[in-house]
Amino acid sequence: MATTMKAVVIHTKGGPEVLKVEERPIPKPDNGQVLIRVKAFGLNRSEMFTRQGHSPGVDFPRILGIEATGIVEHAPGGEFEKGQIVMTAMGGMGRQFDGGYAQYTVVPTNQVQVITAQTQLGWDVLGAMPEMIQTAYGAVTKSLKVQKGDRFLVRGGTTSVGLAAIAIAKQLGAHVAATSRKPERENLLREYGIDEFFVDDGAIGKQIKNDSQKFNKILELVGTTTLKDSFQCVSKGGVVSLTGIVGNSWEIDNFAPMEVIPWGSSLATYGGWIEEFMETPLNDIVQQVEAGKFKIKVGRVFHIDQIAEAHQCMDDNTAEGKIVVLTD
Ligand SMILES: NC(=O)c1ccc[n+]([C@@H]2O[C@H](COP(=O)([O-])OP(=O)(O)OC[C@H]3O[C@@H](n4cnc5c(N)ncnc54)[C@H](OP(=O)(O)O)[C@@H]3O)[C@@H](O)[C@H]2O)c1
Repeated sequence: MATTMKAVVIHTKGGPEVLKVEERPIPKPDNGQVLIRVKAFGLNRSEMFTRQGHSPGVDFPRILGIEATGIVEHAPGGEFEKGQIVMTAMGGMGRQFDGGYAQYTVVPTNQVQVITAQTQLGWDVLGAMPEMIQTAYGAVTKSLKVQKGDRFLVRGGTTSVGLAAIAIAKQLGAHVAATSRKPERENLLREYGIDEFFVDDGAIGKQIKNDSQKFNKILELVGTTTLKDSFQCVSKGGVVSLTGIVGNSWEIDNFAPMEVIPWGSSLATYGGWIEEFMETPLNDIVQQVEAGKFKIKVGRVFHIDQIAEAHQCMDDNTAEGKIVVLTD
């Protein structure tokens, strides 16, 4: 077995060009850890924020990557067998310890799911799943508790998390609406089964003409920049879950909660960690994707040597789906 691997290391904050592909020693797992031969990893906006220097708890140099998909190489404690397909995410990956942007990664065994389903899916599809599905599944089923008959709106429908959330909510039997700033993206959203489409001009509340057109569950992925307007779209007793911030603003200026949040409605958030990741039915969803019952939207696929280009694509919002990087 080789002793070194390719890894993407960040030494200083900045644009995509600060991500350097380096030759690093393959890490060694202790008891309670597993060495994974990473085959693919998805890109996440939290890695973009870390790259830009907005993650105060992260020290450089660091191998980025809050998720990885691959094959078990070695688990000293015997928790896994060599060759098993596994997915991992969160728990401090790529932040407190070196993460998934590499040909190998070592993670604690308690944050690893084994995929037992027989699958012919490519590593691009499998690699798209861990964090994207965890977030969509957690926000839809745990934060918003979407059920049959709910009127569900995804604000930021064309995000990779948004598309997965649409697919999950349709399976649960909800009436699903979604937004994009670009009218031409309606077709993509219709392919995912949405019932209603809104062009997001920042004031969707004005497009809703009466209470019956409002939504009782709203997944807010654009973030604080559209949150006030999302509360113009929520029905009495409804919930808005602030789960993403593609709008790139963490705070709300002049926020008067009693004016913004209509009486009877509520604001929730979602932030998945190890427990939520481990409760996500990834194996089941792999089977559904295999059977053509669940769509995974891979936007662009890059090789690890093209990591700067991949981050540029995320910065430019041009992927139209999950960005996945292959390591071979
Ligand atoms: N809470 C959690 O545990 C958790 C976990 C993972 C991810 N997240 C968050 O979930 C969100 C979605 O992540 P993702 O990776 O799925 O995103 P993504 O695929 O990279 O989203 C790209 C899309 O976002 C929309 N967008 C970009 N900038 C925008 C802006 N300024 N205003 C409105 N829309 C904008 C664009 O859609 P249009 O051009 O079609 O409008 C774009 O195509 C992110 O904020 C991410 O940080 C949260």
